[in-house]
Parts: sequence; structure tokens; C-alpha cells
Amino acid sequence: MILQGGTVYQQGSFIRADLRIDGNFIKEINSRLLPKANEEVIHCKGLHILPGLIDIHVHFREPGAVHKEDFLSGSKAAAAGGVTTVFDMPNNTPPVVTQKDLNAKRKLAKKSLVNYGLYVLGCRENRTMVGNFIATPGIKVYLGSSTGNYLTDDLGVFADILQHAKRPVVVHAENEQLIRYFSEKYKKTEHHHKMRDNLCAAVSVAESTTMASYFQKQLHLAHVSTAEEIDIIRKHKTSLITAEVSPHHLFLTEQFFLKQKNYGKMNPPLRYQKDQDALWQALHDGVIDIIATDHAPHTHDEKKKSCAEAPCGVPGVQTMLSLLLEAVHQKKLKLVDVVRYCCNNPARIFGIQKRGNISPGYFADLCIIDLNRTSIIRNQDQYSKCGWTPFDGIPVHGAVQMTFVNGTKVFDQGKFFPSSAKEVTLI
Ligand code: DOR
Ligand code: ZN
Repeated sequence: MILQGGTVYQQGSFIRADLRIDGNFIKEINSRLLPKANEEVIHCKGLHILPGLIDIHVHFREPGAVHKEDFLSGSKAAAAGGVTTVFDMPNNTPPVVTQKDLNAKRKLAKKSLVNYGLYVLGCRENRTMVGNFIATPGIKVYLGSSTGNYLTDDLGVFADILQHAKRPVVVHAENEQLIRYFSEKYKKTEHHHKMRDNLCAAVSVAESTTMASYFQKQLHLAHVSTAEEIDIIRKHKTSLITAEVSPHHLFLTEQFFLKQKNYGKMNPPLRYQKDQDALWQALHDGVIDIIATDHAPHTHDEKKKSCAEAPCGVPGVQTMLSLLLEAVHQKKLKLVDVVRYCCNNPARIFGIQKRGNISPGYFADLCIIDLNRTSIIRNQDQYSKCGWTPFDGIPVHGAVQMTFVNGTKVFDQGKFFPSSAKEVTLI
């Protein structure tokens, strides 16, 4: 197959080129390729070809909560959003703690339309066994409580996990004692962002980065959301400490929570404008390495519960690229930056083999976009089972036209096709 006449990402810039796909892989890239007999030609004139996005933080809810999402619905949302690989979080029912749990989840993930990696939960029970997991992208540790009861707030347990892990340790960094303190103090206000004050995240980031540096282990900070965390990471960043930001923290503030209530309730919470400004600055400075969605769908019924009862989390895997393309249109980012944060850096940091770039010998995971198409993000267009998005009604410049996974077209303007998606291989 030849993708003809597109503008293709190549080593930090975009050039006009033809691209030959053979089986699962990119075979050849050249300014002009002559189609052979029987070779399909897909015309890409006027379109940009990016490496498929790698979203290292999704909750596809299998096993245990398939009324919210499953690997098929979640991966449809991903493919429609130009995402060709997802890393799925382990806070399932049951959680992924043992090799048996991981094997059971592998079976469920087979129906995914996009490639995947499956995290293992680090907790008291498996603290000295986490080194056995080498085919998992990372060990996820909840230092502060969130959806499900998978908390590890004992720093002794965390020390064991860090010392034994052979893969990056990924932390939800909010200090549990401070969450309890601020939750009690601000309970009556029902202000989620006050009940999980910025200090909760800042203290936990300070603790976890100090410990990872001490043990010389790779630590990835999930969903950094505050100016205070950025200050700490900036001072202590080494090649072993990496950080991620989520679209909802880049594009929404606590004002959204105050208006939309539980539809803007997630952990860590939406923050203030000064925090959002610090996150954008940190992206530009290289203090933050990755943009990942924390796609965490919950149903309308669940979100309509009282503030105290409604679960935390918002969907995001389908809308991330649209929002980032709009940011490119508004000149807040360059298109090559999107590739760096969503493709190159995730592949490099997590050692994903032959993905996250467009190069001969790499898997043909591709996202083909039309920068000139405008649209409005709508609840009714979401493929997630939850059927809503916090970005409903937002106009965006730029749209995903086609998505290729391992050389196969799985999404084309609203239509889905069978996929040869697989679990990623990690170095
Ligand atoms: O808001 C959140 N939702 N934060 C988390 O840490 C978990 C997630 C979920 O699984 O719903
Ligand atoms: Zn999460």
C-alpha cells in the first residue's frame, strides 16, 4: 500500500513524501514512490501524516465495570482520536496484582482495535514481587486514594516497590494524610479542588521524587496539575524522573467544576488559572515530557449522584488530539510538539519498540489528519460508552481522517474496520 502525496512527520519536521506500507511495517519513505501492480494507493494530498498517538494513561474498565467502558468501545474512541497505542491502568475489579490477574486481562484486551500495554498495580500484597513483571509498561502506585480502593500510602511499601521494580514506577501522587485533612476541613463547601488542595499533590511529588532519586529508579509522575509540583520537578528533574499532564488540566480550570459539578470532578482535581499557565510553561520548558489523557469514563447516572458520592474521572482519549490541534491553530503549540509529547516521548520513556515515529522498519501506526477541517466536539459523537465529554460544544480546527494500526486501516471518517492490534513489546 502507498500513502501518496501527504505531508509526513520526519525527524522533527514535516515534509511532502510518499510512504510505502508492507504488512505491519513502514517499508519506504521517499518524495515519489511508483506504485507496483496490485499495490493500493491512498491519496493523502492536503493531509498530514503523524505517528499514531501513544496514550500511556487510560482506564478501559475491564474487568469489572464494562457498563462504563470495555476494550472495544474504549479502543474505538482511541482510534477515532488518532491514538494507536494505549496503556491501560490496573484499578479494575479485581485489580491487576498477580500474574494470573494480568493473564486474565490479556485475554480481555484482545478485542482492542489499538495496540496496548497493561499496567500492574503496586501494593502491599505484591511489594516484593513487582520485579517479576517485565512485560508490563510500568507499576502503578496510588499514593493517594482515588477510584477503587487501591491505596498505598505507606512509604515503606512504596520503598519496597521502588527497589524491586524493573519497569518504571508510575505514581498517582497526592498525599493521603493531607487529602483527609483538607477533605474534612472543606467538606461543607463540596469544593473538590479545595478538599484535595494543591499541597496534597506537591508533598507527594516531593516525597516520591526524593525516594526514586535515592533508590536510582525510574519514576513517572502521572497527571501533574499544579504550579507547586512543577516547581519541585523543575528543581529535581533527572533522566529518571518524567512527568505527564492531562488535557483536562491544560484546557479546563476549577471554574468548569464550579459550573458543571461532577462532570468536572476528577483526581487530581481541576486547578486554578495560575496552575494551568504553569503547566503550559512546563511543556515548553521540557519539565513535562508527555501528554496523556487519564481517560476515566463514568456514566451519566453515576455523575448525577451527589457531589460526595459521584465517582471521579472524565473521558478524554477521543478528544485529546482535537484539543491539541486547536492549540496548534491558536499557536500555543507546534504540530511537531504534539508528536513529541504524544508519540516520541512516550515511546522513548517506556521503551516501546518500533513505535512513536515514522521510519522504515517501524510499525505502520499512523494518524492522518486534515488541519483545514473544522468541527465541534459533541457528546453524541463520542464512542466511549459513557456518551459524554467535558469538551462538548468546543469548536476545533483540525480533524482525524484515518487511523492505521500495524499497517491496517482501522478508522476512516466515522467507520471502523477489523484490526490486527497487539500487546506492545517493551525494551
Ligand atoms: O479521576 C480519576 N479517575 N482519577 C483516578 O486516579 C482514577 C480515575 C478512575 O479510574 O476513574
Ligand atoms: Zn488515571
